[in-house]
Amino acid sequence: MITELPPHPASAEPPPFAGPDHPMRQLTRAVAFDDTWTPTNVERVTEVFDSMAASWTEEHVDPVKAAVVRDAIDRGGPAVGGRWLELGSGTGAGTRILAQLGVDQVSVDLSPQMLAHAPEGLAPKVLADSSTLPFADDVADAVLLINMLLFPAEVDRVLRDDGAVVWVNTLGDQTPIHLPPADVAAALPGNWVGTASRAGTGIWAVLRRA
Ligand SMILES: C[S@@+](CC[C@H](N)C(=O)[O-])C[C@H]1O[C@@H](n2cnc3c(N)ncnc32)[C@H](O)[C@@H]1O
Repeated sequence: MITELPPHPASAEPPPFAGPDHPMRQLTRAVAFDDTWTPTNVERVTEVFDSMAASWTEEHVDPVKAAVVRDAIDRGGPAVGGRWLELGSGTGAGTRILAQLGVDQVSVDLSPQMLAHAPEGLAPKVLADSSTLPFADDVADAVLLINMLLFPAEVDRVLRDDGAVVWVNTLGDQTPIHLPPADVAAALPGNWVGTASRAGTGIWAVLRRA
């Protein structure tokens, strides 16, 4: 069961941006529910984000986005003392927030250019495809995904038994890479419980194994 908490007082409706027909939305669902992730997907997604990397921080890393992540951590309650893996860390929107909290974190991204434009010295940067993570089983106390594709089997594999999945879509259901919290829980192997809410213009969910 996912308990919906009241929206953060500063939450707002996202502006119209990407609906259910957006190609990235369709890919998000295919990856989460049909295990569809091909070499062509890898090539195209890498190209797309490489091409946006130079301007990503200026255009997409802002306080409204940070508000959702912070609220997920404040009210969702994942342990900030453990090891975090951030998948699809991009140019460091989440990295900066976790660094301010003193979190032991590792940043993972598929796009060399997104990683190249991420800040230095805040977290180890790992160039990797999250469908086949270069980590042992049970290494993470939390897996953070901000506007990132969900690869359920790999998230489940690297997350410790008592770990938390922190799911953030900073434009709510207008985020191109979007799944509602119930669908995140349904896509992950086994049974998951947690909390969800709204903050900034986004949604978040913090899920743990039941
Ligand atoms: C929409 S961006 C979000 C970036 C960052 N989390 C943010 O909120 O600014 C999605 C990120 O996920 C990365 N990504 C997409 N597919 C991936 C995969 N299979 N493995 C790792 N990273 C991936 C992209 O390269 C991109 O940096």
